Amino acid sequence: MRKGLFIILAGLLAGYLSFASENIVLKKTPKSLDNYYPPKSKKWEFLSKMYNMSTYFYGINLNINNEDWDNALKWAKKLKEEYVSTSKMVPEWKEYFKPELAERLVKAVESKNVDNVLQASRKLGQTCAKCHADNEITVKLVYHFPSFENIKIEDPIEFMEMETGKYMKKMTNSMKALKIYLMQGDADNARQSGEEFVERARALKGMCSKCHTSKTSIEAITGKEYLNSLENLTQALSADKLDNEKIFKALGSVGMTCAKCHNVHLIPAMVQERLKK
Ligand code: HEC
Ligand code: HEC
Ligand code: HEC
Repeated sequence: MRKGLFIILAGLLAGYLSFASENIVLKKTPKSLDNYYPPKSKKWEFLSKMYNMSTYFYGINLNINNEDWDNALKWAKKLKEEYVSTSKMVPEWKEYFKPELAERLVKAVESKNVDNVLQASRKLGQTCAKCHADNEITVKLVYHFPSFENIKIEDPIEFMEMETGKYMKKMTNSMKALKIYLMQGDADNARQSGEEFVERARALKGMCSKCHTSKTSIEAITGKEYLNSLENLTQALSADKLDNEKIFKALGSVGMTCAKCHNVHLIPAMVQERLKK
């Protein structure tokens, strides 16, 4: 009986983190949330409220399972307090909170009636789930990832600093020019564009340390393999007679590195950019 109850409660409480719906909604984040995240605040106040509520919720569950209703009640009261104070943090999100449901959960625990607790937990949990479904992904994307917009890279060809997006474009244009000249049979221009591309691709590594302090992270993508591919490309470009197949092959392995880095960084950067517009 006690085991069964535990499973039902645990299932219900875990349920507040998922909320079935047809569409994934990405809503822009409200302005006042800025107050609780870097750069404005280093304390991550909103997120720590979430951890607290989640822990207090589990405190109810855990103690009822031990038939310790007194402690369960303590956590229910703490949960209500935390829920109410969280509801005042972001005025734009006031409607998501239903303080009367937190009070109802306190009353249910007071009644020491398991069915009442289950029902009241579910009702309150639904208010958590609704807000998570609407906002959790965007909040993580906007506040947990540093912005690439502020990262500047020194272009080794034009000797000027430029932001990531612009640099990527320039570097990609050098690569496209290499391909076009190769296919046109224009070896001199192919060589020049190819060398520019290699220099730009090498310099790319310099940007990593603006966010990463761990060498392991940097080497995982732009490590030996990457530098070797660029070296192979350089050698292929310096041959007396250009071997298109060899060059395209070297380009292909460089491209794998681009893709790897994009899989980790480009996707959040793109969503973040859209959300900030
Ligand atoms: C940090 C890892 C990283 C590596 C390595 C990387 N990129 Fe990118 N790339 C990004 C990010 C982040 C963006 C989005 C920048 C932005 O829009 O602010 C991007 C954007 C781009 C874009 C779109 C530019 C635009 O704004 O239209 C192209 C094209 C591109 N990269 C090509 C490449 C190529 C080719 C390589 C390999 C030679 C490469 N990238 C390597 C991170 C990387
Ligand atoms: C008004 C919106 C809202 C309500 C209501 C809400 N949350 Fe959240 N919650 C969020 C957002 C936004 C995040 C993501 C925060 C972040 O990652 O910085 C989050 C994240 C969480 C997380 C995950 C933290 C992690 O590991 O990333 C937990 C656990 C959580 N909430 C518990 C709760 C509980 C329990 C309730 C209800 C009692 C609740 N939340 C109500 C908005 C809400
Ligand atoms: C604008 C900041 C920024 C820049 C610039 C950046 N990264 Fe990242 N990178 C991140 C963030 C944020 C994560 C997610 C993990 C985290 O929070 O540390 C990440 C994750 C990673 C990961 C997977 C997790 C890990 O740490 O091993 C690798 C590998 C990585 N980056 C490599 C690179 C490389 C290589 C470059 C340069 C070509 C680069 N990064 C440039 C911010 C950045």
